Amino acid sequence: MNSQPEPRILFSREEIAAAVKRLAVEIRKDYLGKRPILIGILKGSFMFMADLIRLLDLPLEVEFVGLSSYRGGTESWGKVKVVQSLRSSVKGRHVLVIEDIVDTGLTTGFLLKYLWKKKPASLKVCALTDKPSRRQTPVTIDYLGFTVPNKFLVGYGLDLDQKFRNLPDICVLED
Ligand code: IMP
Ligand code: MG
Repeated sequence: MNSQPEPRILFSREEIAAAVKRLAVEIRKDYLGKRPILIGILKGSFMFMADLIRLLDLPLEVEFVGLSSYRGGTESWGKVKVVQSLRSSVKGRHVLVIEDIVDTGLTTGFLLKYLWKKKPASLKVCALTDKPSRRQTPVTIDYLGFTVPNKFLVGYGLDLDQKFRNLPDICVLED
């Protein structure tokens, strides 16, 4: 018996590309004339960030922070910690946080609190996916790709124990 879960496509690469394009149009319109810093949360947001910024004709800067709330597997550990900190100052800057998924909201909520203390001019969130059924702490998502069901997702940067990040589509794991 092989109980390895199989990835099944939930959002195809074409649907992802269309969503990223829609988000880029909205973001570009809102940030015209500004020089935003986009802060990606590692590792899951790297692919989304790479695709999004190529469609953003703005003088933007890219930063990453490493936050971890998972001990592995599909269940949250519940506690967030910084595993790689921010390298540049965000004081007085327009900051846009780039997330792969907002699940319980603990990770994004933690980062927003951490960033507000650094006095940015503005602070917004762009998330590729949102799993509202799992929310434990409220998070305002300013730019959203997809609302997703309460299933564990992999692909397009999202992992299960570091696997499946390289899948070009967003998939659900099925036994
Ligand atoms: P949160 O703190 O529960 O909102 O989620 C934090 C992190 O958990 C996300 O940034 C993801 O890296 C990871 N995560 C949550 N749900 C999933 C999922 O369905 N697939 C893969 N990673 C997930
Ligand atoms: Mg992860």
